[in-house]
Amino acid sequence: MEEPKASGDFQYLSGFGNHLSSEALVGALPADQNSPLICPYGLYAEQISGTSFTTPRSHNLFSWFYRIKPSVTHEPFKARVRSNERLLSEFSQSNSTTNPTQLRWKPVEIPDSPTDFIDGLFTVCGSGSSFMRHGYAIHMYTANKSMDKCAFCNADGDFLIVPQQGRLVITTECGRLKVSPGEIAILPQGFRFTVSLPDGPSRGYVGEIFGTHFRLPDLGPIGANGLASSRDFLVPTAWYEDKFNPGYTIVQKFGGELFVAVQDFSPFNVVAWHGNYVPYKYDLNKFCPYNTVLFDHSDPSINTVLTAPTDKPGVALLDFVIFPPRWLVAEHTFRPPYYHRNCMSEFMGLVYGGYEAKVDGFLPGGASLHNCMTPHGPDTKSYEATIARGNDVGPSKITETMAFMFESCLIPRITPWALQSPFLDHDYYQCWIGLRSHFNQKSEVPNLQNNGE
Ligand SMILES: [Fe+2]
Repeated sequence: MEEPKASGDFQYLSGFGNHLSSEALVGALPADQNSPLICPYGLYAEQISGTSFTTPRSHNLFSWFYRIKPSVTHEPFKARVRSNERLLSEFSQSNSTTNPTQLRWKPVEIPDSPTDFIDGLFTVCGSGSSFMRHGYAIHMYTANKSMDKCAFCNADGDFLIVPQQGRLVITTECGRLKVSPGEIAILPQGFRFTVSLPDGPSRGYVGEIFGTHFRLPDLGPIGANGLASSRDFLVPTAWYEDKFNPGYTIVQKFGGELFVAVQDFSPFNVVAWHGNYVPYKYDLNKFCPYNTVLFDHSDPSINTVLTAPTDKPGVALLDFVIFPPRWLVAEHTFRPPYYHRNCMSEFMGLVYGGYEAKVDGFLPGGASLHNCMTPHGPDTKSYEATIARGNDVGPSKITETMAFMFESCLIPRITPWALQSPFLDHDYYQCWIGLRSHFNQKSEVPNLQNNGE
């Protein structure tokens, strides 16, 4: 077993996709087999599969838990009385809308009434179907209260959680993760977990994928190193509680609906585990950005942290891309993102700081959606400020910012509550309306300061 890394009172193993093992009691892992007749300490052996049994070994994901009681020990699932009507896992004309307009939302206010992670989660947009095992959903959450006496289990897909305000303490069957704004956490399909909020009011983003799992992107000509490094992904170490807990409920998201099952013990009773199907976290500040060092603006794919692939090479079901602090050095180049229309669809969020292509209006905790082939790019103020600086700007550094993008080949449909939200910015289009013509057919190099006239 690898020696865990200590981080406060949380301990982690490191690596991406490795087969790891951890035990909270010495000798709790069976030595030579997965499911002995009698496990050490009288534990139950239980496997969780993240891929079909026959998935090729290079992509096969599974873990073995050694637990005090098996997770099957519960009463039948029933529809949760307090449902969450703002969750979708299958997107169709009956429940969501297409909209090619550029959309932007101000930060959604965190409620005053007691709201935990489950009740505070709401879908903004998505595509495809959890039933068909192809698609994704993009959610946000606003919450102010830790989950109590219940665990969440997402049977539909994997969660990639981007906290924007407030740390999360996520207890999982593999152990505990502490996740701060600037970090992300991945909770794979089927894991049971609770979310506690040590800082109270909290807000963040969640990307959910159906039918596949996140991978590190291939690096191509970059080589073996760069972008997100395997060693910086942290996996929790075994942690358990042997707790009689009558009335404890498992809240299962299944087809976008919530079901509950009652049991009389904590599900965090895994004393030891081994496998490569695990929850993990990653500090976005450890990302090693690559970029142009002479001229022109790189495509945003250069900043891909994780990718959820489709069967088509190079086409993502969902890429997670960040725009971290970095030096801008390109010569005779328009340095902000170029104007473009993309066959992929782009959802953006901002964890902290500002974003280089928007002087105002795109705020931490806010979001934007630029759908398939919808034009977008820097706002008028960003454009004018950039060209006013001219060519002799020298190197400059973008600091204290962390924006991100979920990018997908599938066109998202938008939920009614996101379109009717009081936080929808109806004036978003105005940020480009002021872009004026600099065209001057008499001069190859127009005087940009004077509108080319
Ligand atoms: Fe874009």
